[in-house]
Amino acid sequence: MSKIISANTDSIQRAAAILKQGGLVAMPTETVYGLAANALDGKAVARIFEAKGRPQFNPLICHFPSLEAAQDYAEFSNAAHEAAHHFWPGPLTMILPVKHSGISALVTAGLETIAIRVPAHPVAQQLLHDCGFPLAAPSANKSGSLSPTTPLHVSESLGDGVDLILADGPCEVGLESTILDLSEGAPSILRPGTITAEMLENKLNQNVPYYKKVMGKPKSPGQLLRHYAPSVPLRLNAIDVEEGEALLAFGSDKFMGLKGGGAAKDLPASMRRNLSENADLHEAAANLFAMLKALDRPEHKAIAVMNIPDQGLGIAINDRLQRAAT
Ligand code: TXA
Ligand code: MG
Repeated sequence: MSKIISANTDSIQRAAAILKQGGLVAMPTETVYGLAANALDGKAVARIFEAKGRPQFNPLICHFPSLEAAQDYAEFSNAAHEAAHHFWPGPLTMILPVKHSGISALVTAGLETIAIRVPAHPVAQQLLHDCGFPLAAPSANKSGSLSPTTPLHVSESLGDGVDLILADGPCEVGLESTILDLSEGAPSILRPGTITAEMLENKLNQNVPYYKKVMGKPKSPGQLLRHYAPSVPLRLNAIDVEEGEALLAFGSDKFMGLKGGGAAKDLPASMRRNLSENADLHEAAANLFAMLKALDRPEHKAIAVMNIPDQGLGIAINDRLQRAAT
């Protein structure tokens, strides 16, 4: 069983120390319990997906103690400032253009946008202050099960997958935050929550429709996701590299050959990346989006990707690669 500890000054400091070392902490927020990791540490973020058993890399919400702290990581339009002023801290998440400032590409799933939330819960607030870095945190449950609103839900769902559970009773709201997309011109709500369209319309003085209505038909949450897709084709399970292809390696690429002669290791540095030379899936997950982007260049005919074992985090990595390949 994972450690449930009553949240107080000491235990919150202990949780911050665990997070600094790349660990996972479940924290109470006013909506649901979140499974937090340092958003600047890709390997730590990879552990979130592993603990949740998520077969896919969905982008994660990044938590900050204040608007001021969040401003280094996203572009705030006038509407975003207005919404922050009225609803933060609180159960509102905003999707905004990302500023490249050290956030792991695994948090944004390679997108040019980032989901930002400033929670009101005093324990989450104290933890964010003690950490001094943003916390990526999805709901603290196994993928596909209900969002946890008590510490016991978290430990029953995640077991040993979480290093510490900061307990502070049941969550007040009990429903995930409203997600407001302000990354493009017109605002829309991607996920309804306790902050309603009417409340947002009143403060923003503009129409704030639900995304599914904009699109004319309901969409499942999974379909709502916009995915980063490389413009260059991917060739999966490659055992050699063809003329004009770049290489995305995993593990040793010593024996990878170039079709027509030569070794892959002699490719120029701009045409080669290795997700993890030690075949470490955490490291590979952390590097995935940044490396795909680095190799996604028009002068490359394709990206040859070495085989990645289809187990644990490898399932999510392969899911992402397969979708990027089609
Ligand atoms: O109340 C909440 O929001 C809780 C607490 C812990 O803060 N968190 C939560 O996170 O519900 P999660 O991972 O279960 O849901 C995050 C949602 C996902 O559906 C994801 O698609 C969306 O946020 N999301 C994150 N980044 C996005 C982006 N850049 N563009 C569009 N959607 C994004
Ligand atoms: Mg969730």
